[in-house]
Amino acid sequence: MLSPEQFHELAASRRSTRDFLDTPLDPKVLEEILNEAVTAPSWSNTRPYMVAVATGEQRDRISSALVTRLRESAELKGMGANPDYTHVIPYPEGLVERSQRVGLGIYETLGIDRSDKAARFRFLERNYEFFGAPAALFFFTHKGLDHFGTLDLGLYMQTLMLAAKARGIGTCPQGYLGNYPDIIREEFDVSDDYALVCGMSIGYPSDHPINGWGAERLDISELRVRPKG
Ligand SMILES: Cc1cc2nc3c(=O)[nH]c(=O)nc-3n(C[C@H](O)[C@H](O)[C@H](O)COP(=O)(O)O)c2cc1C
Repeated sequence: MLSPEQFHELAASRRSTRDFLDTPLDPKVLEEILNEAVTAPSWSNTRPYMVAVATGEQRDRISSALVTRLRESAELKGMGANPDYTHVIPYPEGLVERSQRVGLGIYETLGIDRSDKAARFRFLERNYEFFGAPAALFFFTHKGLDHFGTLDLGLYMQTLMLAAKARGIGTCPQGYLGNYPDIIREEFDVSDDYALVCGMSIGYPSDHPINGWGAERLDISELRVRPKG
């Protein structure tokens, strides 16, 4: 059993990786991670999600199709394009500030000026290049379970990210990768009952400064619901 300190070390050191080495992942290790994550709890054990894995030529093909589509749509925000889900952009008041702080932190670390649209667009493209990772995952949930499907998927994804971290492998969960489902559906045999939610880049982190930057971690007091009165 892990001690609280060991658990803290694992959980707190997981950070979104936004620059990867091109070192390939051993397919056996990747399989082990995907399988380990099935230990996550699930609504009535339905596991209403599916995962697609893209490596090698397929990974490259998907990446170029996504980048091409992004350029065609030339939409800096790049969110809200998935017809299966509605995203609220801009984020609601009270949440938008947190999101802006992440954007600022990333741009500052990369030396990108907020007014430099071309550099910001280039960073957006990096999302669709999987930040250089050798593998990309795409996650689907069953449309029939609504938010419970998404909830279960989140549990699966976090367990997967920790399983990867325990093996020295980095991950970046990416909402952007859910934006163009037709491109992903063309590559994988997935039932129409399942909708693409998002994706994840996975591989070994480089020593790029962006991987040393950490988004703020809110204190639980900011998230706690207070009793009335
Ligand atoms: C559902 C989800 C979608 C995300 N989408 C993106 C994304 O498209 N691009 C990106 O760079 N980071 C993305 N992130 C990473 C978050 O920005 C990151 O988790 C947050 O800032 C906290 O930082 P940490 O993961 O390093 O602890 C996403 C995270 C989640 C959970």
